[in-house]
Amino acid sequence: SGERRPLAAANWKMNHTSIEAAAFLEALDPGDSSCDIWIAPPATLLPGMKAIIERRNLPVTLCAQDVHEKENGAHTGEISAAMLKDAGAEAVLVGHSERREQGEGAERLQAKAEQAAAHGLRILYCIGESEAEYSAGLTKQVLARQLEAVRNIPANLLDIAYEPVWAIGTGRAAGKEDAQEIHAFIRLEVQRHFPDQSGAVRIVYGGSVKPENASGYADGADIDGALVGGASLHAESFQSIIHAFQ
Ligand code: G3P
Repeated sequence: SGERRPLAAANWKMNHTSIEAAAFLEALDPGDSSCDIWIAPPATLLPGMKAIIERRNLPVTLCAQDVHEKENGAHTGEISAAMLKDAGAEAVLVGHSERREQGEGAERLQAKAEQAAAHGLRILYCIGESEAEYSAGLTKQVLARQLEAVRNIPANLLDIAYEPVWAIGTGRAAGKEDAQEIHAFIRLEVQRHFPDQSGAVRIVYGGSVKPENASGYADGADIDGALVGGASLHAESFQSIIHAFQ
């Protein structure tokens, strides 16, 4: 993965309360500093986790799971980019398939990414084909289309997560050679969008990453890390995945 620092990112989704988050941070052995470690907890946990991370000087970056596309205003239940920063997040997931399933399309995702970038949040932009698209041989077409939404984002704020929808939470992880082939394709698309600065953009794999298969992905020349759901909920399994990328 050359010029890029590997990234191990935990997406806790709608799991954990403050006591569990504190216990996780207490137990986490971050290893050496060669791999960036991000945790995306529910937004309610951001300030408390920020305080623990600072107190213990942990090499962990907090990432939000979603952001609203508007600056502020009458959007009951939503959280703005400025609020996420204020709460301790330095990055945000945009376009996770579980949000796309809730009806978030290209235009909205583009607006969310641009809003996050305007506030200096890093963006981990998630793309991935559905099972039906995979079976129909449409994977590359789908990914190229999904990548259009971030063409105006500064490359130095952008990372990509390739998460085939059929591999998320199913235990059916993409084969490491297949994942590498898709990452190489995404790399070419990223180079096309950002001819001068594509080297900074990491492309991480997500979808049933476990301690047992993480080092296989780490071998892929274009696989710069992992975005981990289920196996990121416990410090022990997440740290084995971190170590696989160190
Ligand atoms: O964002 C990470 C995620 O969607 C993958 O989930 O549980 O398959 O690791 P999981």
